[in-house]
Amino acid sequence: MKQSIGVIDSGVGGLTVASELIRQLPKESFIYVGDTKRCPYGPRPEEEVIQFTMEMVDFLMDKDIKMLVIACNTATAYTLDLLKEQLPIPVVGVIQPGARAAITSTRTGEVGVIGTEGTISSGSYVHSLKNIDTTINVRDLACPRFVPLVEKGIVSGQEAYDIVVESLQPLLPYKKMDTLILGCTHYPMITELIQEVMGPAVTVISSGEETAREVSTILGYRKNLYQGDELPTYHFHTTGDVGKFHAIASRWLKQKIDAVSRISLTK
Ligand code: SIN
Repeated sequence: MKQSIGVIDSGVGGLTVASELIRQLPKESFIYVGDTKRCPYGPRPEEEVIQFTMEMVDFLMDKDIKMLVIACNTATAYTLDLLKEQLPIPVVGVIQPGARAAITSTRTGEVGVIGTEGTISSGSYVHSLKNIDTTINVRDLACPRFVPLVEKGIVSGQEAYDIVVESLQPLLPYKKMDTLILGCTHYPMITELIQEVMGPAVTVISSGEETAREVSTILGYRKNLYQGDELPTYHFHTTGDVGKFHAIASRWLKQKIDAVSRISLTK
């Protein structure tokens, strides 16, 4: 039977990873779960993020997925090791791929990371970057105002610009910093604003591309890439407002998407 790849996120941010997955793996089918109703995860305590993530995972495991992508940095920071240990299928997060892409990009050895309070205080990016290169200098910064903005669909205009400018001020004095990791999957939706504030000398990295590459490598290695002739299916599930999710998903994925259904994860 044809199995799908499961993708989870606290809301719509994981769509930035899903769009890369669809681009790089055009024959694969996907089931996406966005816990929009309980978004953002960033300010929540670790135990709560673990519980919510497990609820999304249970939902997907019942659908017999062949691989899980945690397309949320906060959830990756708190649950990747746990899920890798517990699940019988391969699990990929977004932090390690983002760190790898940043190391490839930097010439000065000074890298910035922006993310939610949870991701930044977990130290996961600093750990992953230093694991690859101990000499790297990391400047990290929590930007808690970005996720609510994106979830509301405000990704351009004066309000968004003002919030981005104010939030990124602490990074601007670091002139040697030539690479900035978007350590939250919601942030690629405001890349243009972030790039404008950081300036052209800074390469802005989002982990979607590298994550999709890793998924493809793992499935290829396990000889589990779909080889048949059936067209792929994309199923979206949200715990929040279906109309809002559908609008953001269609815009971001630039295609007509299969039905979005509303689900409840709480027992
Ligand atoms: C959030 O829910 O606060 C953001 C998701 C992420 O960390 O990627």
